Amino acid sequence: MQRSRTSCHEDFRIFAGSANPALAAAIARTLNVDLGGAVIDRFPDGEVAVQLTETVRRKHVLIVQSTAPPVNDHLVELLVFADACRRAAAERITAVVPYFGYARADKRHGRREPITARVVADVLQTVGIAHVVTMDLHTPQIEGFFHAPVDTLTAVPILCDALRDRLPSDVVVVSPDRGRVSLATSYAQCLGAEVVVMHKRRDDATHTHVTHMVGEVSGRACLIVDDMISTGGTMAHSVNTLLARGARPEMYVAATHGLLVSDACARLDTPAVRAIFVTDTIEMSDQNCAKLHVVSIAGLVASALQRFLEDGSTMVG
Ligand code: R5P
Repeated sequence: MQRSRTSCHEDFRIFAGSANPALAAAIARTLNVDLGGAVIDRFPDGEVAVQLTETVRRKHVLIVQSTAPPVNDHLVELLVFADACRRAAAERITAVVPYFGYARADKRHGRREPITARVVADVLQTVGIAHVVTMDLHTPQIEGFFHAPVDTLTAVPILCDALRDRLPSDVVVVSPDRGRVSLATSYAQCLGAEVVVMHKRRDDATHTHVTHMVGEVSGRACLIVDDMISTGGTMAHSVNTLLARGARPEMYVAATHGLLVSDACARLDTPAVRAIFVTDTIEMSDQNCAKLHVVSIAGLVASALQRFLEDGSTMVG
């Protein structure tokens, strides 16, 4: 039953994919609505099965689904969920994709490679998704892969709020590569700190090394920021490089998307790393990670959706 306290101009229903049902439920709770009914399953051979258990006819449907690991499963689930809604005569379909998988495949690094982020944008639109709400996209140009509007929210202010009281006053914000300078600058502005930039060279798809650094870290505590922590390799390597350059062994690590695959937590479990902050764009499995702090983006996403449902804009003001 719809119990919206918003003055939304259209009837909407919010559904959860299986990637992050807890986040979807928290968003729905904040919007004061129940989650829509659907059964998401797998056929015996692994194919995705989705069935809506309520009508979406002439409704605005919002599907909350991060394309988090297993990325391909969650992506196909989002696609077939949207297709089910389209075929059931939903008026409009918005995909709320807090973590947008394949975002790193936004350009070709060599010959005979795909631009998979573009492929994902194409297929999302093919199944009728008319609007995407996402968070801290790996690169802003991904928005341009879509004809449909894309709203990219940022978790930087809420991560800064969570970090602020823990950080020493001399902390510097470190960008682990050139691609994160703008993100690091946002953190630095939020925290009133200086920015240090590492220049990284990619050796192959999974290995990089730091060639030089802009800014002074000697004797300073560091907050290393990134859009995501996947294997933790970038962060661990950054920690070691900063220590080798004389930084104080007091490191804080923050990223919007905590993929934390392949023993990432173990890789970051060193005495110098004091705390790791991520958001709940990706549901945490049983991570054995004592230093991990997960900050919820549910309120942020819910406010943006509420603004959008009221007047068509996710922006404040
Ligand atoms: C790379 O460009 C991204 O911004 C992240 O730095 C990277 O994907 C993190 O991956 P990992 O944790 O495996 O080093």
